[in-house]
Amino acid sequence: MPRFLSAQPSTRLIPLPWNVPLAEWPVEYLVALPRGISRHVVRFIRVGEDVYAAKEVIETAALHEYRMLQDLHRDDTPAVEPLAVVTGRRDLEGDPLDPVLLTRHLSYSLPYRSLFNSGVRPDTVGRLLDALVVLLVRLHLIGFLWLDVSLSNVLFRRDAGEFAAYLVDAETGEMHDHLTDGQRAHDLQIATTNLFGEFCDLEAGRMLDASLSPEWLVESILARYHALWDELTGVEEYAGDELFRIEGRVRRLNALGFDVAELEVDTAADGSTLRIQPKVVDAGHHSRRLLRLTGLDTEENQARRLLNDLDTWRYRNTLQGTDEGIAAHRWLTEAFHPVIAAVPNDLAGKRDDAQLYHELLDYRWYESERQGREVPLTEAVHGYVRDVLSGLPDEVVSSDAMATVEGGRTLANPYDPSQGFEDDEGPMPVDPWETGEEVVANPYLDISSFKKSKD
Ligand SMILES: Nc1ncnc2c1ncn2[C@@H]1O[C@H](COP(=O)(O)OP(=O)(O)OP(=O)(O)O)[C@@H](O)[C@H]1O
Ligand SMILES: [Mg+2]
Repeated sequence: MPRFLSAQPSTRLIPLPWNVPLAEWPVEYLVALPRGISRHVVRFIRVGEDVYAAKEVIETAALHEYRMLQDLHRDDTPAVEPLAVVTGRRDLEGDPLDPVLLTRHLSYSLPYRSLFNSGVRPDTVGRLLDALVVLLVRLHLIGFLWLDVSLSNVLFRRDAGEFAAYLVDAETGEMHDHLTDGQRAHDLQIATTNLFGEFCDLEAGRMLDASLSPEWLVESILARYHALWDELTGVEEYAGDELFRIEGRVRRLNALGFDVAELEVDTAADGSTLRIQPKVVDAGHHSRRLLRLTGLDTEENQARRLLNDLDTWRYRNTLQGTDEGIAAHRWLTEAFHPVIAAVPNDLAGKRDDAQLYHELLDYRWYESERQGREVPLTEAVHGYVRDVLSGLPDEVVSSDAMATVEGGRTLANPYDPSQGFEDDEGPMPVDPWETGEEVVANPYLDISSFKKSKD
C-alpha cells in the first residue's frame, strides 16, 4: 500500500492507480495541457474537480523538492504548490516504483515554448525576461539558491500587460538564511548557461525574432537582475538634512511593487551624512493592498491596474470622503462583479477574472477614444466579449487548449508533449542521458565527460 506524505491529506488520492508506472497511466486519469521539457515523467492528472501535476522521481529528490516548495509557499514566493509525495509504490509484480511528487497545476500558466510557438514580439520577450528576473531576485532575497534557473523550470502567467513568473522545479534548490554574493553569482552563472542554450534552441527552431540574439538576451537578463538587486538592497548616502530622501526611496520601491519592512539608517556621528539600506523587502505591495481591501487575490500588475480603477471609480462616484474599505466594497459589487458575471460561462476559461477585467479596461479605453465618448462599462463588456474574448485560445484546463497553444499541430501523444507532433518527420531525437547508452566521443560535445563531472 503506498504512503501519502501531505500537509493536507486527501482521500481522493487513494483510488488512483499507484501500482502502474506514471508513463502508463490510463488516459481517463490524464489531462492534456501544455508542458515544458523535463527529464522525469510528468503527467497532469485529474483528481475530482482539480488538476494536479504528477512527477515520478526518486525518493530523496521527491521529498527534498516537496520541502523546498513548502518553504517557498510559506514565504508567499511564486512557486507551484506542493500537495503530496506518494512513496512505497509497487507494481503488480511487487517490484518497487519511484515515488510521485504531486503539485497543484498552476492554472492559466504557460510554459515558455507554448508562448514562443505562437510567435512572440520582441517587446514581449523583454516582459518575459523581466518576470524571470523579478522571480530570481525574490528567490535570492529570501535566501533560496535555485541552482537550476532555466526557462523550462519557470511557468508564465499573464499579469495585466506584463507576465508573472513562477518557479516550477525546486529539485536542486537550497534554502539558506542569507545568500552571499558568491552564491548569487554562482546561480547567475548557471542561469546564463541554461538560458543561453534555451535561446539558441528557440533561434534554431526559428521561434526567436531575428532582431534578438541569445547573447544579447542573456546579457540583458544579467543587467536587469543587477539593476533590480541594487535598487532593492543598495546603500544610499545623503547629506544629513535630506531626510525626505528616505521617503523617496521607499516610494520608489513601492512603485516597483516591493514593500520595505525594515530600513537601516546610519547617521554619521556629527550628523553630516545619512546612509540608508532597505533590509527586509517583500514583493507584492499592490497585490497585498488589493487583497486587504477587496479580498481579490491577483498578480502584482493586475492589482496595480485594479487599484487605479478603484480610485477612478471612487472619484467618479464622489466617494473620496468615504472610508476606503467601504468604497472598495461598493466598487466590487457595482463594478467588478457585474462585469465578471456578464461573461458567458463557456468563455470564462480564457482568462482569470482579474486579467479579464484589466483587458476590458483597455478595450473600453480604445473604444472610448475611437468613438469620442465615454463608453460605459456594461456596454464595453459586451463588445469585449464579442470582439476579443471569443477569439482567444483557452488558457485554463480544456482538452483543446493543447492544440491551440502548440500552433495548431497535432501532438503524437497529447498527454506527453515531449513525444513531438504527429507530422514530425523521421525518428524523434534520442536523449543519450535517458537511454544510458555510451555516446561515441564527439569533438564538439563530449557528453560522457559531462556525465562524469555531474556525478
Ligand atoms: N504544478 C504544475 N503546474 C503546471 N505545470 C507544471 C507543474 N508541474 C510541472 N509542470 C510542467 O511540467 C514540466 C516539467 O516539470 P519539472 O521541471 O518539475 O520536471 P523535471 O523532470 O524535474 O525537469 P528537469 O529536466 O529540469 O529536471 C514543467 O516545465 C511544467 O511545464
Ligand atoms: Mg524542470
